Order: sequence, then C-alpha cells, then structure tokens
Amino acid sequence: MSKAIIAPSILGCNHGELASASAELEIDGADWIHLDVMDGVFVPVLTFGAGVASSICGAVSIPVDAHLMVDKPADLIEGFAKAGCRYITIHPESSEKHIHRVLGGIRELGCSPGLALNPATSPEIIRWVAPLVDLVLIMTVNPGYGGQKHISAMHEKIRTVRKFLNEAGRNDAIISVDGGVDSSNAKKLVKAGASVLVSGSYITSSPDRTAAIASLKV
Ligand code: DX5
Ligand code: ZN
Repeated sequence: MSKAIIAPSILGCNHGELASASAELEIDGADWIHLDVMDGVFVPVLTFGAGVASSICGAVSIPVDAHLMVDKPADLIEGFAKAGCRYITIHPESSEKHIHRVLGGIRELGCSPGLALNPATSPEIIRWVAPLVDLVLIMTVNPGYGGQKHISAMHEKIRTVRKFLNEAGRNDAIISVDGGVDSSNAKKLVKAGASVLVSGSYITSSPDRTAAIASLKV
C-alpha cells in the first residue's frame, strides 16, 4: 500500500497570510493544500473565495483541493477552476438540484470533480455518480468548523464507498477523509480505503508541522 497523501486544511491559519502559510506547508511536507470554502449559508462561517484561492495556487507547486461548503456550487466552480485548483469538491446536501450536471461541468473546466458526503448522507449516491467523480470526500465531522471530534463510525462508509467505486470500474478514483484526522486514526482510515487525509488543527496547531505531517504518512 502506498503512503497516504496528506492535505493540510489551512482553515486554522491566519487568514491574512494564507498564501505564505500554504507555501510553508509545502516545505513542511504537505502533498496537497485543502481549501475550506464556506459561504455563511451552507455552513454558518464565511471564509474566502476564488481570489484568495488564486493567490494560494500561485504560491505552491502542489495540487490545491477546493472543498466547496457552499449552497450554490454551480455559481462558483468556474472561478475556482480559473484560480488553478486541481480538485473541486461539492456537496449533494447543498441546494444544487443537478449535482450530476455540476460534476460534469467541473470536468469540462479541466479540473477533477469530487463529491463530499456529510456524516448523515448515505453512500448510495456514489453508485450513480461513479463515472463522474475522481474523488469522494468522506466527512468525519459535520462541516463548518475545525477542531471537532472525529466520527469513527464513518470508517464503515469509507469501505462501502471503496466497494461502490471498484464495482463501477473506478479503482482509480480516490477517497479523501476530512474531519478530526490525526496520528491516532490515520492508519485505520488508510486501511479502510482512504488515500488522502485532510487534516487541519492537528497540523496547524502543532509546534512542529513537519513532524505532524510526517506522523500522518502511514
Ligand atoms: C470542516 C472542514 C475541515 C476541517 C478540518 O468543515 O471541511 O477541512 O477544517 O479540520 P480538523 O482537522 O481540525 O477537523
Ligand atoms: Zn474540508
């Protein structure tokens, strides 16, 4: 089994210097940078838009993964694609009625489409969108805030999604996990079928981010 891809979430960094914080995380060993885009509607918090994402993409040479926790993702995908994000992930729990079409739209913009599943969302949807997604993001917290407790009951959902993707011939599609990821659960998540570990507070609140990132590369 190859080592997990570590995608630090920069949500907990100083929002006045997200581009330089991302560049430092790349030096510290990050494989991707994970952007938590929040609109104050889908989740209570408001973070940043495509302009900031563009500065971040310009500051790093690793893939940037935009996690859109927004109510109307269709309106935003073009901006994040133009900003240079490699992955654009949307939520089926948003008010978007045509998730299938928006996933296709992300691919047409030249990016890799992702679908994020909240803890209460059934994995069944993956059977119907498998041809359209390159990434499935399993939420192991309810989106909105960093530093929440990891919901380990979601490990079973990782196994189920892996099975659905493989049955659809999408062995190449990757599973990412987001929420409360740290060195105590990283190995179990990879064993369940995750290949990308998104981790926010565990990395950004650590006095030694290089060591924190290395401890997740299981
Ligand atoms: C939750 C976000 C996560 C989160 C990760 O809404 O999608 O990316 O900030 O932070 P930790 O690792 O602290 O749960
Ligand atoms: Zn996220």
